[in-house]
Amino acid sequence: MNIMVLGSGGREHTLVWKISQSPKAGKIYAVPGNPGMKKYAECIQADIEDNDAVVALAKEKKIDLVVVGPEVPLVNGIVDALTEAGIKAFGPTKSAAELEGSKVYAKVVMRRYGIPTAKSEVFGDIGRARVYVRQMRQPFAIKADGLAAGKGVILTQTVDEAIEAIDTIMQDKAFGDAGSRIVIEEFMQGEEASLLCFTDGKTIVPMVSSQDHKRVNDGDEGLNTGGMGAYAPAPVMTPDMLERVRKEILEPVVEGMNKEGRPYKGCLYAGLMITAKGPKVVEFNARFGDPETQVVLPLLKSDIVDIMLSCIDGTLDEQSIEWSGGAAACVIMASGGYPGAYEKGKVITGLEDAEKAGTLVVHAGTKEENGAILTNGGRVLGVIGEADDIRGAVAKAYDGVAKIHFEGEHHRSDIAHRALERLQK
Ligand code: AMP
Ligand code: GLY
Repeated sequence: MNIMVLGSGGREHTLVWKISQSPKAGKIYAVPGNPGMKKYAECIQADIEDNDAVVALAKEKKIDLVVVGPEVPLVNGIVDALTEAGIKAFGPTKSAAELEGSKVYAKVVMRRYGIPTAKSEVFGDIGRARVYVRQMRQPFAIKADGLAAGKGVILTQTVDEAIEAIDTIMQDKAFGDAGSRIVIEEFMQGEEASLLCFTDGKTIVPMVSSQDHKRVNDGDEGLNTGGMGAYAPAPVMTPDMLERVRKEILEPVVEGMNKEGRPYKGCLYAGLMITAKGPKVVEFNARFGDPETQVVLPLLKSDIVDIMLSCIDGTLDEQSIEWSGGAAACVIMASGGYPGAYEKGKVITGLEDAEKAGTLVVHAGTKEENGAILTNGGRVLGVIGEADDIRGAVAKAYDGVAKIHFEGEHHRSDIAHRALERLQK
C-alpha cells in the first residue's frame, strides 16, 4: 500500500517509523515531513491545511491510506474530503473532530452523556464572564473555545488573574476567533495522565497510558511548552483506574458521538485528571498526542497499518493488539531560550551515535542544509529509550541525549520523575 502521513513533528516522525515496520507498507510519503523521516519516507512540500491540495497530491501519488497527524486538517474536514475522493483516511471526520475543535462542544457532549469533568460555564459576553469570576472567587482554568495550538488555556488563582485571562482571550483576542467564546472551569486537583485509544466507533482499544511533561524546567516548574518529554506507562493508571476510565469516559463518549450523529473513528486522546473522586476529563483531542505518541507507539507490537485500516472499516473487534509490556521514555532536546525567543540554524552532531546507543531519535524542529542537520525550531529532537521497565527506559534515553550536541541545547533531566518516585516508595 502507498501511505501518506500528514505533519512534520516528532509525533509524525514516530508514526512514519512505526508504519514503515508494517509488511503492508509500500511507498511512504510524509507531507511536509522532516529531514529525519527521509530514512523511511519521501517528503513532499504541500500545504496540509488546504484540503484540495492534499486530495490532489494523494490522487497523483496513488495513495491507499492517509494518516493525519495534527488537529487543524482534521477540524478542516480533510478526512471527509479524502473519503469523498475514495481514499481511506485515518482520523475523525470534521463533525467528530469538533470534540477537540470546540471546547464548548466537548463540554456539551460530556454533560449530555454524563461523563465526569470539571464543572464549567460558557461565556460569549465578556461582561458576564468578569462578573462570574468576581462572584465565584476560586482558582479556574479559563479556555478559549477553539483551536489555539495548545496555548488557549490559562490557569488562574486570583480574581485579578482571572479577569486578566478573560481580557487576554476575549478583548485582546490573543487566539483570534478561537476566543469569541470561553469556557470557565473549576480547577481540578490530581495527577494528569493521557490515554490514547483506537476506535472504529464501536470497539475501543486503549493504548498504553502515558504522561507528558509540559513545563520547561525540572520539578515541573517554569513556563508551559509544547512538551519537554513523556513516558509510558503511567503508574497512576492502574488496571482498576483504566477500567473506570473505560466505563465512565471512553464508552459513553464513543456511544454519545454515535447518538450525536457524529460517529468517531480514529485515535481518541483523553486528557485525564485522576482526582480523589476518580478520573475526570481535562480535554479530548481528536488525534495522537505529541510527545505521548513517541513513547506509546514503540511499545506497540502489532501492525499499526492493520489497526488503522480496521478503525476505518469498522472491524477493530477482529484485531488482536499486543503491547511489549515494557516502558518507554522520551526526552525533548530544545533550543536555548525556548519557550521564549531562540536562535535557529545551529549544527547538530551525534545523531548517529545516539541511534547506535539504541535510542530512537525523532526530529521536531530541524532542517537539512548541505548534508548537515541544523536546528530549526524550539523543540528540536525527541530521544526515546525503550526497556523492560521505566528506570531502564529513562537511562537509555539519557544515554542517547548525552551523545547529541548543539549550541544552547537544553533538556529536562527528570523525565518520568513521578513514576521513578513511586518505585522508591
Ligand atoms: P487543555 O489544553 O484543556 O488540556 O489544558 C492544558 C493544561 O491545563 C492541562 O494539561 C492541565 O494541566 C491544565 N488544565 C486544564 N484544565 C484544567 C482544570 N480544569 N483543572 C486543572 N488543570 C487544568
Ligand atoms: N501532549 C498534549 C497534546 O498532544 O495535546
